[in-house]
Amino acid sequence: MGNATAFDWAGVVDYAKRSYTEPPKTQYELPGVNVEDHLGIPVACVPLWHTVVTAKLTLPKGDKEALQRAQSRLSAALAEIESIYPLNPGGLLTQVAYGLSYFKEYLPAKITDKMMPRALDNGKPGDWALIDSIRYPKDPENLVLEQNDISFHFKSDYNEHINDVIRAMFQPGAHLLNGIPCECFYVGDLFTVTSIRRGFAGRGMPHKIAKRLGIPGADKIPAGAMLFMGFTSSHVHGLAEGPLPSFETIPGYTDQTPESYFANGTMMHLSHIQIDLEGWYGMNHKSRLHHMFHPRRTEGEDVLSPSQAPETSTFKEELEEDAKKHGVVGHNAQMQFLSRLNEDTTTAYGDKLPKGTVIFLRQDFDTVEHPFEFNSEGSVSPTPMPGVHFIGFAPSAQLFEKIRLEMDGVELQKRNKLTDENMGFTKFLVTTHRQNYLEPSRKHRSFPLAELL
Ligand code: HEM
Repeated sequence: MGNATAFDWAGVVDYAKRSYTEPPKTQYELPGVNVEDHLGIPVACVPLWHTVVTAKLTLPKGDKEALQRAQSRLSAALAEIESIYPLNPGGLLTQVAYGLSYFKEYLPAKITDKMMPRALDNGKPGDWALIDSIRYPKDPENLVLEQNDISFHFKSDYNEHINDVIRAMFQPGAHLLNGIPCECFYVGDLFTVTSIRRGFAGRGMPHKIAKRLGIPGADKIPAGAMLFMGFTSSHVHGLAEGPLPSFETIPGYTDQTPESYFANGTMMHLSHIQIDLEGWYGMNHKSRLHHMFHPRRTEGEDVLSPSQAPETSTFKEELEEDAKKHGVVGHNAQMQFLSRLNEDTTTAYGDKLPKGTVIFLRQDFDTVEHPFEFNSEGSVSPTPMPGVHFIGFAPSAQLFEKIRLEMDGVELQKRNKLTDENMGFTKFLVTTHRQNYLEPSRKHRSFPLAELL
């Protein structure tokens, strides 16, 4: 009898746990993402469909009760969604991140002064590891530096899962998730949605979608390419593993430790980039290979996933040599001396990492939006435009800034008198929007710090 009363009958049958793994402490690690073998090279099989929703909060500023109520409502909504969809690409993966305005305008300085992670590696001493994005040297005049309070990133192999969840979270009325009536997932009154950004990665989608929409350059996109520019961008060896991009993991980037409130959190950069596919595919395969990776690469046209193993890394000296000797620098080689460890390193968790290990994580996806599906702060064009919703995670906004500045590579270019065409592939990209966010740990994903008010 005692056992019978302890049993949770309301929880039967919990199909969301059929292939259950303990949820990670971070939000950015993705349970269930398997690894594919691409001619001997390991590649992460990333979720197919992606949607980012950005918003401003409707809550009155300085209203402690309202913020704490919002915290428990969003927390309950996310938990309810995860009780319906398994936490893997076959179900749904959700990430929530917060803009600087949330921390500055909704929380008192006496809390943020004490709790916010501080950068140690760059910038002014005492600066938060979340600062506003700068305008980069090669950004266009009309770049929008955004000021959203919050962003949600939903990923799934099934687009309907994402659509149903967005409807249920942001539109009032009775909704079903997977046919199941639920009680607490509507949180739309807490937000004014500012944009909805959709896209995809893998499964031959770049070629298929570009062909269907008649995008110039579509014919040249390899049929099996995961992204518009042809090469794979989710090499296991090119993506930070486990908790490496978190504030506290690699010593020296921030003041956070594994015991800190923001441990297992990270800085997220979100941008939208248009791609000139005709220009990119106007170059031959060898040039594209060299501009994407480095000019010492020799892989043939049949290789979309060239090895990114630690020993293939390009560090500072080789980068300068590429510029001097070949007059070309590759996109990933431009930044690897910052995105990878320059020496063997022990993490705050005691793991030993060899030189060449990546600590920067990218979770970007392709889009044909111009620039977004919905944009409350600007216009939307119906003409499809190939592009990327870029998402990068680094232990501090200061490190991201250093990395991204190398992508423009103004100094390297000047020193070596390189032409714009030979600076990776920046000549073919136009960034339209940017913002930095803080993505807290899974534990603090709902309105971080509000419980301390
Ligand atoms: C159209 C946009 C972009 C495309 C198609 C793209 C594609 C790629 C590809 C194919 C790789 C090498 C393969 C791999 O590591 O899996 C790579 C590496 C890299 N990308 Fe991008 N990228 C884009 C934008 C950006 C942006 C905006 C940043 C911001 C800083 C960035 C940062 C990096 C870094 C740091 C690496 C090297 C990672 C490492 O090996 O340590 N990328 N990218």
